Amino acid sequence: MTVTPVSPHAGAKAAAPRRIRKAVFPVAGLGTRFLPATKAMPKEMLTVVDRPVIQHVVDEARAAGIEHFVFVTGRNKSVIEDHFDSQFELEHTLEARGKVKELKALLDDLPGPGQTSFTRQQAPLGLGHAVWCAREIVGDEPFALLLPDMLHHGTTPCLADMIAAYEAHGGNHIAVAPVPEDQTHHYGIVGVEDATAKVSKITSMVEKPPKGTAPSNLHITGRYILEPAIFALIANQERGTGGEIQLTDAMLTLAKTRPFYATRFDGTIYDCGSKTGFLAANVAYAMDRPDIAPILRQDIEAIFKR
Ligand code: UTP
Repeated sequence: MTVTPVSPHAGAKAAAPRRIRKAVFPVAGLGTRFLPATKAMPKEMLTVVDRPVIQHVVDEARAAGIEHFVFVTGRNKSVIEDHFDSQFELEHTLEARGKVKELKALLDDLPGPGQTSFTRQQAPLGLGHAVWCAREIVGDEPFALLLPDMLHHGTTPCLADMIAAYEAHGGNHIAVAPVPEDQTHHYGIVGVEDATAKVSKITSMVEKPPKGTAPSNLHITGRYILEPAIFALIANQERGTGGEIQLTDAMLTLAKTRPFYATRFDGTIYDCGSKTGFLAANVAYAMDRPDIAPILRQDIEAIFKR
């Protein structure tokens, strides 16, 4: 796909941005890069230290003030629904054994009654299609979209920064972060008005640009705030790369009439859909934990001395 310029006149600033209450988590993918681990276990339930990857991403959304969590699931994913439900027997047993701290931690992680919805993507037809499957639950309001593979490790939750940018500018928002110039062909890349600004208007978007053609080195990191008009555009979308319905194609169409902004994420991003990203995330998150870090450091140093 070539670089598609987004009209500088695209969409006048919206009246008053509506509050972002809902977040969509597409978790229906097959996770083929993690087979055989993902044959019976969803990749979103693989653990980074002692929390499933999906829990880390839900934590980020909760920290940003999200009130309703919409999961687009598929076959073999029902354990995700169980994870976000209360487990009476377990809770009762922890209470009976006086494990107050563990019980409190479990209950603190639980979204409130009625705050979760689960819908099915019956076939893994791509990210765009997964997002479209959430249309009835999201309804006619702007929403956040978080790809659970991508862990954003930093001091401020990425989505909180994006919601602040949305409240200031309205429109649509994409989180971005720099990658080495010679790696841009592996990523979705955006061009922006000001590459050094925390928030900048997006001027172009391109999926995996051929070497030397990228409009910048800012890649799309898997966090979005989208206006509900995206759903109708996805519905009319032709199948793109790999026969899948791509989200980027629908975003490019939306960008012709509505503004898109990039919010730079200043922390480190771990792609937990890849083995090395997943392993690195485990080390990074473990190093944040005073109960684990000192021993793990010794163990890792011993491995590197071998
Ligand atoms: P990925 O392409 O990284 O996930 O999609 P995948 O297809 O499960 O992974 P591999 O390449 O086979 O190992 C990013 C996110 O979008 C979801 C995935 O579950 C993942 O969280 N997704 C992807 C869907 O929900 N439906 C799809 O059709 C495709």
